[in-house]
Amino acid sequence: MGENRKIILVERPRYRMPTHNCFKLERGPIPEPGEEEFLVRTLWLGLDPYLHGRMKRVSPQAEPVAIGDVMVGATVGRVEQSNHPAYEPGELVVGFWGWQDYAISNGSRILKLKTQLEQEHPSYALGALSRLTGLVAYISIMEISKPRAGETVVIGAATGGLGQIAGQLAKLQGTRAVGIAGSQKKCDFAVDELGYDACVCYKDDDFADQLKNACPEGVDVYVQTIGGDDLDAVMPLLNLYARMPVLGVIAMWSAADLPTGPDRTMLFLNQVMTKRLRVEGVVGNDYFQSHFGVFQREMATWIRNGDIKIVEHVVPDLEDAPMALQGMFQSADEHLGKLVVHVGD
Ligand SMILES: NC(=O)c1ccc[n+]([C@@H]2O[C@H](COP(=O)([O-])OP(=O)(O)OC[C@H]3O[C@@H](n4cnc5c(N)ncnc54)[C@H](OP(=O)(O)O)[C@@H]3O)[C@@H](O)[C@H]2O)c1
Repeated sequence: MGENRKIILVERPRYRMPTHNCFKLERGPIPEPGEEEFLVRTLWLGLDPYLHGRMKRVSPQAEPVAIGDVMVGATVGRVEQSNHPAYEPGELVVGFWGWQDYAISNGSRILKLKTQLEQEHPSYALGALSRLTGLVAYISIMEISKPRAGETVVIGAATGGLGQIAGQLAKLQGTRAVGIAGSQKKCDFAVDELGYDACVCYKDDDFADQLKNACPEGVDVYVQTIGGDDLDAVMPLLNLYARMPVLGVIAMWSAADLPTGPDRTMLFLNQVMTKRLRVEGVVGNDYFQSHFGVFQREMATWIRNGDIKIVEHVVPDLEDAPMALQGMFQSADEHLGKLVVHVGD
């Protein structure tokens, strides 16, 4: 007789930051599958910035999580018991059943892990080979930015789950890849382990000067994930016809207030016009039908060939997930690569 631990959302973030206080742990019995249902054992839970939106009253992507409900999140698990004709015990699946040890599913929003690489590394289905992380990096570089050899590509949150892949993809295209990250440790990791040509810490007083020095030929692609002071530093460096896929604004999500000072929207629009910039919002789900299959095949090949290295920061237990999510919005220094929680075996 095992138990099922669940992390419940008990409070919306008081400030913008999602803190660990918003959650509580509950324990209960392992549920039993009904007709045409199966029981899944969670192995891995992915932590992603969009979860912040799901904790608020209004979520830009989907219904917010109700107070008292299990926190949502992308999960990988193993079918333990099945009354469903399409699922066999032992199969590995990926879905969104959230922050709990076990869940019952009728197969809705569940995919089986298809690639051999996912069978060997199930957590990659939440990061490198996922629609939420790997696919977005792939689309941003390969479809939207299409950088040419010799161009300069700057990537925000350079050492995170998405940034590590975007940076290495940019290098595979023969570009100069320049990262932006939250500490010297992360910048060293970006250059030494991920192969960036340079990386600049946005918290340094002379960040804008450092970035300018790191991009002597200007910037042709800016993979926008931060949306804070980085934008002021990058905008003057952008070259004619530069591309800017906009993936996120995590600086805004973790700030208590909007930035002070004069409104710079008109300056931004003027730059867009005079430099003929291509600024395009990207949401991974839009590309699922059209690109997921080819993306997974190509990414698996790059990883197997050693062209792309995947780093994960593994949080050891489900009960540590609230603190780890908070750390994601506090630029925790120890978070290098994709943030995943090891829930069970
Ligand atoms: N549009 C889409 O479909 C999509 C899909 C996936 C991800 N994204 C976006 O891509 C970005 C990275 O996502 P990820 O999943 O790979 O997460 P991640 O990079 O692994 O983690 C988020 C990172 O953001 C940085 N950060 C946090 N607060 C910050 C602040 N105030 N200012 C600057 N940087 C801050 C931190 O790195 P540092 O320590 O380096 O600051 C943190 O490690 C996010 O903006 C996310 O929303 C978009």
